[in-house]
Amino acid sequence: MDIEAYFVKTSALVEKQLDALIPEQKHTPYHSLFQSARYSLLSGGKRLRPILTVATAETFGITPEEAVSTACAVEMVHTYSLIHDDLPCMDDDDFRRGKPSLHKAYGEGLAVLAGDYLLTYAFETIAHIPHLTAEQKIALVSLLAKNSGCKGMIAGQVMDIQAEGKQIDLAALKTIHQYKTGALINTAILGGGIVAQAKASELQMLGEFGQAVGLAFQIIDDVIDVTSSEEKHGKKLGSDAAKNKTTYVTLMGIEGAKQEATQLLNQALTYLQEIPHDTSLLKNIAKRLVHRRF
Ligand code: IPE
Ligand code: IPE
Ligand code: MG
Ligand code: MG
Ligand code: MG
Repeated sequence: MDIEAYFVKTSALVEKQLDALIPEQKHTPYHSLFQSARYSLLSGGKRLRPILTVATAETFGITPEEAVSTACAVEMVHTYSLIHDDLPCMDDDDFRRGKPSLHKAYGEGLAVLAGDYLLTYAFETIAHIPHLTAEQKIALVSLLAKNSGCKGMIAGQVMDIQAEGKQIDLAALKTIHQYKTGALINTAILGGGIVAQAKASELQMLGEFGQAVGLAFQIIDDVIDVTSSEEKHGKKLGSDAAKNKTTYVTLMGIEGAKQEATQLLNQALTYLQEIPHDTSLLKNIAKRLVHRRF
């Protein structure tokens, strides 16, 4: 199947499941929580992380339907990270996924709380997946908690705000990018491997692949912040410069950053060759992530 068609089909499956996992629940006195969470969760977004989870599981012979709830849990954590990332106390961005950011539409209080809800509900979702074993659920919860927490995204966001307005070197920037973005992308991939009960040696190669792709993804995000069109991008351009952030573009230039991402992609693809399955789907997705323009 061509990769564009795969993205369309898998995004639709993920969105249908997200819609089912978080219904409007209009009868509750706090239905604005679900309304605001749905505002961010169900409005655009490229769904790259859940697609990676489903595709990894498929690589090991598991159906998309069996992987979709795990994939949705990763997308919930990602969406929460975007909601909080846009807050005035963080990147202070007013547009996300082609619409006003959640705090612009619903206020800061609900934006904080909807983010908290999506984070906690991700774990509740994993705990309730009927066909996974207890061991698989523990492995998923542990992986997601670690990589979205102090060994991953949160740690990265802390280093990111501390670096604002400061000159940092490439090694420090690489660490920030690996933590704030790479870790969750890696989790999406490894999550698919856990759902499919991949062997330890296979998980190790998936992890290496995920780390390289995850870093390349954030490098391209830095490039896109200066080169994309706002309409396609769905967020305001120049956010990094406005916040005085060091990025791969400020350190290496646009072409240098793109070359670095391409090199990481090539490295990532070598890890896939170590996996004794047909990994062409993951290869094509990785290429699409790194060659994207928005
Ligand atoms: C944006 O991620 C934030 C980063 C970690 C770079 P995406 O570019 O995947 O955002 P959506 O999900 O498509 O909105
Ligand atoms: C995103 O980094 C990292 C997150 C954990 C959300 P950015 O701050 O560069 O993401 P965008 O550009 O706002 O989507
Ligand atoms: Mg940020
Ligand atoms: Mg941001
Ligand atoms: Mg960015």
